[in-house]
Order: sequence, then C-alpha cells, then structure tokens
Amino acid sequence: ARRWAHTPATLKFNSVTEQDIAHFQKILPAASIISTLSPVSSPASELSIFNDDWMNKYHGKSTTVLRPKSTKEVSEIVKYCNERGIAIVPQGGNTGLVGGSVPLKDELILSLGNMTKIRSFDPVSGIIVADAGCILEAMSEYLAPHDYIMPLDLGAKGSCQIGGNVSTNAGGLRLLRYGNLHGSVLGLEVVLPDGTVLDQLSTLRKDNTGYDLKQLFIGAEGTLGIVTGVSILAAPAPQASSNVMLALPKYDNVLPLFREVKRQLSEILSAFEFIDRKSYELAVKHGQGRALNDEDVEGAECFVLVETSGGKREHDEEKLNGLLESLLEADEPLINTGVLSQSPAQFSQLWAIREGITEAVSKEGKAYKYDISIPVASFKEVVDKTRDHLKSKGLLHDDAVKHVVGYGHVGDGNLHLNVVAAAYTPEIEAALEPFVYELVASYKGSISAEHGIGAMKTHALQYSKSTTSIDLMKKIKALFDPKGIMNPGKVLE
Ligand code: FAD
Ligand code: MLT
Ligand code: ZN
Repeated sequence: ARRWAHTPATLKFNSVTEQDIAHFQKILPAASIISTLSPVSSPASELSIFNDDWMNKYHGKSTTVLRPKSTKEVSEIVKYCNERGIAIVPQGGNTGLVGGSVPLKDELILSLGNMTKIRSFDPVSGIIVADAGCILEAMSEYLAPHDYIMPLDLGAKGSCQIGGNVSTNAGGLRLLRYGNLHGSVLGLEVVLPDGTVLDQLSTLRKDNTGYDLKQLFIGAEGTLGIVTGVSILAAPAPQASSNVMLALPKYDNVLPLFREVKRQLSEILSAFEFIDRKSYELAVKHGQGRALNDEDVEGAECFVLVETSGGKREHDEEKLNGLLESLLEADEPLINTGVLSQSPAQFSQLWAIREGITEAVSKEGKAYKYDISIPVASFKEVVDKTRDHLKSKGLLHDDAVKHVVGYGHVGDGNLHLNVVAAAYTPEIEAALEPFVYELVASYKGSISAEHGIGAMKTHALQYSKSTTSIDLMKKIKALFDPKGIMNPGKVLE
C-alpha cells in the first residue's frame, strides 16, 4: 500500500484508559472532563449528547469528552493523544448533518464549547478575532451594537460554533451576498495533530506570501487539525432589510423569476431561497410559522423567499414594491401572490419558515439528506426522479418513504434533496445510493455543496472528485497527520 493510503480499517488506535484520564487531569480541571472511566465516572447519559449527532442517525461510543478552555490545553491534549495513538474527534456545536462530528468508534471527543472568548474586534476594518467555540449567534449579537453582521447565517446559528462553521465551510443563507468562508476568513489558529500551534491568525486583508495554508483547514472537517481561533471579516450591518415570500404557480418560473429579481433589485438583493410545496407544508405542520393562506398554498407548486438588505429604507421599499407590482401585473405573471413583511416580527416569521424546514423534516421522520450542487434548472427534475425511483422500488408509502422534498439556496445552485422516511433502513439506503450520487454526477454536480463529506459520503467522494484530486488529498492528510488520529474515517475513507 502507498504510504498515505491509510484507512480506519488499517489504522489501529488506542482506547482511552484510566491512566489517560489521570494524565488529562494534569492538563485540565476536573470540570472540563466528562468520562465514564474512573476516577471521573460520569453517568453514560452525560456522554450521549456528544456521541449522538443532530439527526440521531450516527452514534459514537466515546467514553471521554474533554472541554479545554485554552489553545494551550488543546495543544497539550493533542500532543499526548498523538504520542499515545488515541484518535480525536473535534466537536463544535454538533449540528453537522453528515455524521462528521461524532465518533465512529470510541475516539476521544474534544469539544470546543468552553472556548468562547471574543479576542478582539476592530470597528474600523470590521475584523473580529474569536475563539473557535464562539456560537455564531453570540458573535452576531456581539457585533450588532457596532453596526456589523457576521458574513454567514444559518438555521443552526443558536448552537453551531464559528470553528465548526469554518471546518465545514458552511454556506447558509447569506452566501449569495457575502460569498463563502474561503473569502471572509482572514486567519486561523490551528492545533496540528502533533500538538504544534500553527498561528496564522492574521488580520490582514491582503497577504500574498506563498501558499495560503489556512484555506486547507476551511472545510477540512477536523481531519487536519483543531481550529482554536478564527479571524473573520464582518460585514457592515444593512440599515434596512426586508423580505417577501412569493408563491409560484409552477417550478419553471423560478429561473425567469431569479433573473427578474436580480435585474430589478440588483445591489440590494441578499437572499433568494427556494422552498417546494411539501417543504412549506411540513414547516407549517410542525409549527415553524405560516405566511400564506391555504388557497394560495394550494395554488402554488413552490415558493421563493427573497430578502433585500440595503442602505436606505425608502429606496429599498420602492424597489421591492416596484418589483412586486411588475410581477403581479405582467401578462403572464411569474407569481400567484406575494407576502411582504411589514415589521421586524414579520420579517423574522418569514425567515422562520425557511430556516425551520430542517427541524420540520426531522420531526416528520428520519431524513436522508442530500446536499447537492446541480444546475438550478434541474432542481425539480432531480426531486421528481428520486421520488419516481423510490416509487418504482415500492418504497413510497407511509411505512417506508413518506415524502421526497426539495428546498435550498437557488442563488448558489444548491438543492437540499430530503427523503423523509419512517425509519433509517438498509433497504431505503440501498435504493438511494448510489442512485442519487449517479444522478448528481450525470449533471456534473457536487455530492456536497455545503454540508461536507463527514462519515456519510466518504465512499462517494469519487462522484465529485477525480482520482488525482483524491490522491492529493490523501497525501495532504498524511503530511499533516501521519498517524491518522484526527477524525479518522471522515472525508477520506
Ligand atoms: P459540528 O457539527 O460540531 O462539526 C462539524 C464538523 O467540523 C465535524 O467534522 C467536526 O469534527 C468539525 N469541527 C467542529 N469544530 C471544529 C474545530 N474547532 N476544529 C476542527 N474541526 C472542527 N450548513 C450549511 O452549510 N448551511 C446551512 O444553511 C446549514 N443550516 C443548518 C441548519 C440546521 C437546523 C442544522 C442542524 C444544520 C445546518 N447546517 C448548515 C449544517 C452544519 O454544517 C452547520 O450547522 C455548522 O457549520 C456546523 O457547525 P458545528 O459547530 O455544529 O460543528
Ligand atoms: C438549510 O439550508 O436549511 C440547511 O443547509 C440545512 C438543511 O439542509 O436542512
Ligand atoms: Zn443549506
């Protein structure tokens, strides 16, 4: 085998022992160690929130969670684990949707949840430097009085951490406007797998001094090191924001609508989100709010949530009202109706429907989540083909697959294809995979637009990456982490 071709199957790691716990007690205060092993002996129930993922689909068997408070503590833990051959799963808010944040076996969990300091903020440049464990929403709240916002926003904002966002290269609801984290992250502090601290916590906008190493950790899903600090460029807070939920008679209108919305709203357009009818209905059913009356919902095939963010309310309202008028008065209107938010509370309510779909879907059943990049024109086709395929396999009924739904970030070409089942079963999985991946590949799409590979898609990486790319990824992994202790079995098989 080639030197870098190690896999969890070929690598052997050591389980955490009582002697290891005794050593960790020299590095960390007792309150920062949760372990079923003595002398700590926490009840197993305390471990489950760290071992089980957000969807309750992936279940680790870790005995020990360490919750360091400083980069120095992280470094000492990692150095020790590397010497001892103990595998580590870095964990942020544990909101990841691809099984990357929980152990596959009994790896040690290193939770960043105790590292929550804002290290610095410059109100002139808007650059904020924070510990990796800062919750995304807490950072937004910190910035609000300074008239800045975080350049990313997602439904998991109340739990996910900036280090987790960086490690998954999270996209979310503002990507259309502010771009992805490869652009807005200016620097990182990372504890490498041997415990060395890589200090690249730059606050420079421009720095062309050779290879930009921090980019490797953005989206590495904890396989190359532990992100402990993040320097990120916040965006000036818009002085006026508005949104509107549009009901469309047919899916074919989404693309012409997107063109028209971009043309008319231009610089104030900040989100263009797609919701199919079933996703909308599930959000309403599971208490995420309601925007339209039942008749308008029934007459629609799908919905689009448009957000504007600009500098002057009168100017933005004029543009948005003008857009709605022209859409409704057209000879062949692209929309049936639209609901414009009239207050900050209504603005939040409209967003709650879109952001609440993830939760609604998981209340409805067990979700197989496919987060794909494909041409926007094919969103509906892919949802329909997947539904038809499951039907042809006899799996489309209440005891197996209840719904096949689509929603997502049209502006970024990112569809969330969700198959909502009564239970996770091998039969449904076999019907879906490789079917969905082959379908995505047939559109030259990506099998992961924004959620990452985690444990879910390691076997499917070749649908979106060439052998040459995968071989280079393996060499990079071996260079940073020769013993393979960092999040084994994630991203690469
Ligand atoms: P975790 O789930 O804890 O970890 C995710 C991965 O990053 C794991 O592989 C973990 O090992 C690694 N990791 C975490 N912290 C670190 C660190 N400090 N150093 C190194 N590795 C680390 N994603 C999107 O892209 N767009 C969305 O719109 C979006 N919306 C969501 C809505 C909901 C309701 C939910 C539940 C999830 C959503 N997600 C979305 C998925 C998820 O990727 C993001 O929630 C988030 O980026 C994960 O952050 P976290 O702190 O929870 O990381
Ligand atoms: C979203 O856009 O809502 C998130 O990526 C989460 C999901 O896919 O459900
Ligand atoms: Zn998304």
